[in-house]
Amino acid sequence: MTAIRLEGVTRSYGAVRAVDDVSLTVNEGEFFTLLGPSGCGKTTLLRMIAGFTDVEHGSIWFGARRIDAVPAHRRNTGMVFQSYAVFPNLTVAGNVAYGLRARKVGRAETGARVARALASVQLGALGERWPHELSGGQLQRVAIARSLVIEPAVLLFDEPLSNLDAQLRTQLRVEIRQLQRQLGLTAVYVTHDQEEALAVSDRIAVMRAGRVEQVGPPEAIYRTPGTAFVAEFMGSTNMLPGRIEAVDGAEIAVRAGGAMFRVQGAAGTVGDPVLLSIRPETMRVLAGDADGRSVTEDGRSVTATLVLREFLGPTLRLHTVLPDGTPLRVAALGGQEIRQGAGGALLLGYDAAQIILYPAS
Ligand SMILES: Nc1ncnc2c1ncn2[C@@H]1O[C@H](COP(=O)(O)OP(=O)(O)O)[C@@H](O)[C@H]1O
Ligand SMILES: [Mg+2]
Repeated sequence: MTAIRLEGVTRSYGAVRAVDDVSLTVNEGEFFTLLGPSGCGKTTLLRMIAGFTDVEHGSIWFGARRIDAVPAHRRNTGMVFQSYAVFPNLTVAGNVAYGLRARKVGRAETGARVARALASVQLGALGERWPHELSGGQLQRVAIARSLVIEPAVLLFDEPLSNLDAQLRTQLRVEIRQLQRQLGLTAVYVTHDQEEALAVSDRIAVMRAGRVEQVGPPEAIYRTPGTAFVAEFMGSTNMLPGRIEAVDGAEIAVRAGGAMFRVQGAAGTVGDPVLLSIRPETMRVLAGDADGRSVTEDGRSVTATLVLREFLGPTLRLHTVLPDGTPLRVAALGGQEIRQGAGGALLLGYDAAQIILYPAS
């Protein structure tokens, strides 16, 4: 197992700072994800770790060894790409054996290692097939086996599931995660898909314009995003502009959307313009009087008007508007019975500790 350390890593293309002064540590055996929108520098950063792209400033370390000037083939990394990059003129087994031939591993050992690698990705029976006879999911398994067979210290993935359909994506990400755990490999995984990142990662680094915006475990990134950018990127949230009306000890009252929200665990000054991030699933529809006049004991509720409901099976998505017309999305459990139709008033309870307040810029 190998820890990876990046110190002040920078890379420009002309005037574009693709990666801008990134420092981070990936622990031994950790599944670490670089997440961010297209063009934020994920691939460039991963390729610098692999050795396919030169580092302009800064240093990269595998354990105690500085590797940023070491050629790619001597870094002991395996890499899996979005395009399967499988050789069409070699069989499945031939593809997997390729890296071992280049390393001059003997025939008997090659056979044993190829068989083991193929078995680990559930392709034990398909060694003699040709790539054109395989599905996309199987091709990506070949690519994974090919990167595993060299017994790399570090496994790198660049959007490996992006070309697969949704069902296969969720299946293969579980397999990748289990394989990485079993083998105890340190993995750096690039994706722009926040659900995928949440599902597989020990920790996530959210990137924006070449920089790391926040690093943390999935729950922390999702529940307590450090910036409004991270909050909006990590799944849908309601981002409501508002103004602080009162500060009362640990609680702040914010007027937003024509309603009053109480927020805990935040700091601010009366009169400050702010943004409130309220996740749709942190609100609940309270059984109350249909005019929305009743309030919960702690007063942590607002009234909204239902505009449209979308029944999605497990969940029910409610499109509502606050008193001044500001849209507010609410996710209820699909099993919950909600009688109101369009135009009806809903009493929505919220958790003051789960609303995140950001300064408005
Ligand atoms: N070989 C290259 N030549 C010129 N510009 C590049 C090259 N590779 C990446 N870039 C630029 O660097 C930025 C980051 O790209 P990339 O690392 O591919 O982002 P991501 O993988 O997050 O989509 C983008 O603005 C991209 O256009
Ligand atoms: Mg990319």
